[in-house]
Amino acid sequence: MLKPLAFLLATATLTTARYALTLSPTLYTGPVTADYLTPSLDQSDLDAPKLSDVNASTFDWWTFDAIALENPNISVAVTFSTAGPVGYPLTFPPNVSHIEPVPGNGTGGYEADGALWAHVWATFADGRRFRASVRVETARMSGSGDSSIAIWHGGGGWMGSEEGYEVELEVNRTESGNGLEPLRLLGRISYEKITPSHSHCSVPNNFSMALGLGEHGLGWVNVMPDAIASVDLDVNGTRLRFDGYGSHDKIWSSRPFTQSTKSLTRGRAHLGLHSISWLSYTPQNPSSGPESPNANTFVSSFVARDGEPVTAGCADGSVSIQPTREQTEGGLVSGYRVEIPGARISVATDVEESEAGGRHVRWNGRARGRVGDADEEGVAIFERFEY
Ligand SMILES: *[C@@H]1O[C@H](CO)[C@@H](O)[C@H](O)[C@H]1NC(C)=O
Ligand SMILES: *[C@@H]1O[C@H](CO)[C@@H](O)[C@H](O)[C@H]1NC(C)=O
Ligand SMILES: *[C@@H]1O[C@H](CO)[C@@H](O)[C@H](O)[C@H]1NC(C)=O
Ligand SMILES: *[C@@H]1O[C@H](CO)[C@@H](O)[C@H](O)[C@H]1NC(C)=O
Ligand SMILES: *[C@@H]1O[C@H](CO)[C@@H](O)[C@H](O)[C@H]1NC(C)=O
Ligand SMILES: *[C@@H]1O[C@H](CO)[C@@H](O)[C@H](O)[C@H]1NC(C)=O
Ligand SMILES: *[C@@H]1O[C@H](CO)[C@@H](O)[C@H](O)[C@H]1NC(C)=O
Repeated sequence: MLKPLAFLLATATLTTARYALTLSPTLYTGPVTADYLTPSLDQSDLDAPKLSDVNASTFDWWTFDAIALENPNISVAVTFSTAGPVGYPLTFPPNVSHIEPVPGNGTGGYEADGALWAHVWATFADGRRFRASVRVETARMSGSGDSSIAIWHGGGGWMGSEEGYEVELEVNRTESGNGLEPLRLLGRISYEKITPSHSHCSVPNNFSMALGLGEHGLGWVNVMPDAIASVDLDVNGTRLRFDGYGSHDKIWSSRPFTQSTKSLTRGRAHLGLHSISWLSYTPQNPSSGPESPNANTFVSSFVARDGEPVTAGCADGSVSIQPTREQTEGGLVSGYRVEIPGARISVATDVEESEAGGRHVRWNGRARGRVGDADEEGVAIFERFEY
């Protein structure tokens, strides 16, 4: 299924690839450096691996998601990652659970036997949820200009261009073995880009090259904040086929995530002609005093109309995310009120998917509220990590 991708990767290598690399399937043992500045806003630079190597306590990941326009119960998210087990917030495949870290010790005490992973979450019309993680043996990436291509062999990959992305899944494990059950994740998500890329302190028509949140913090770039998404997947025997909206972002750090993060919430919504995204990140051990509780929270917001950024920025305290419970005709609805410059919306948590004892939660649901000077309705997908 990935033949076109493999072919393109080979072609890119022969021509003018700015980079063409093989990611290591094993963890590096030693300190690594992370890049929190991008040399350009070319998609290949935004998507490029951001760590010099990947060791046990670092991670670099690429996420794609989509939610159905007709029914916000239906969604999918895929994360391709290269990462070690110390402080890793996502669930590893069942047969590698023995690489759980020794608490508080990022320098040993685990048997890390892999560095490449693919994670898939899906939710269905009837509220059913699915999630799976696979270990990948080899991965290659190449990039040039706005083209970025990645293959996680046995997991899937993506091909990005000026127009958007094609993401493919190619997990086809028909037999059980090695402590793993059969698993089938096949098919494609096609994205047609609506909005330009956004980063922490980007403002309309001025992309900020600084991708770090906080001094030694977390790297984040919203490579494609909103896109028209067309999904056709076989999710372990269930057909998931829908049209909706999707996005692609990237997160990385040279520090263990769960130990360096107090909370990270990021989400996005599509309402009418509007694309909205928000992020709020609070690192652990705030270096600032308790007298200014917002001082150590980093926020970012983005509102576009018809693909054109209208309001965006990172002013302290400009993003507010409050849990709500509202009585509606259809009964009691739980959700969040998200207030950012240029938009005040309510997002319902129609479907909730929780893992790691509630420390990682994903939601999708309906969204409605005021964007600019219009009342709009649409769909939202968002997630939170909390430690
Ligand atoms: C991984 O790299 C980070 C950042 O350089 C460093 O702090 C950490 O000690 C390294 N971990 C190992 C196991 O070498
Ligand atoms: C971390 O674990 C390694 C291996 O088990 C051990 O040698 C080392 O002393 C531990 N370091 C700390 C700070 O606990
Ligand atoms: C969404 O799923 C819930 C079950 O979790 C179900 O009650 C509801 O009817 C579904 N909504 C739609 C629009 O299908
Ligand atoms: C999945 O694997 C089975 C068994 O090897 C094979 O028959 C089938 O064609 C594969 N499907 C795809 C889409 O590669
Ligand atoms: C886990 O499964 C993979 C195949 O997907 C295999 O290569 C690996 O050796 C297994 N690991 C363990 C610890 O069994
Ligand atoms: C996928 O389906 C297989 C049966 O074909 C089953 O054994 C396995 O548990 C399923 N995996 C998940 C994550 O649901
Ligand atoms: C863009 O933002 C940078 C700071 O992030 C500033 O130095 C520069 O003047 C801005 N450019 C324009 C055209 O507003």
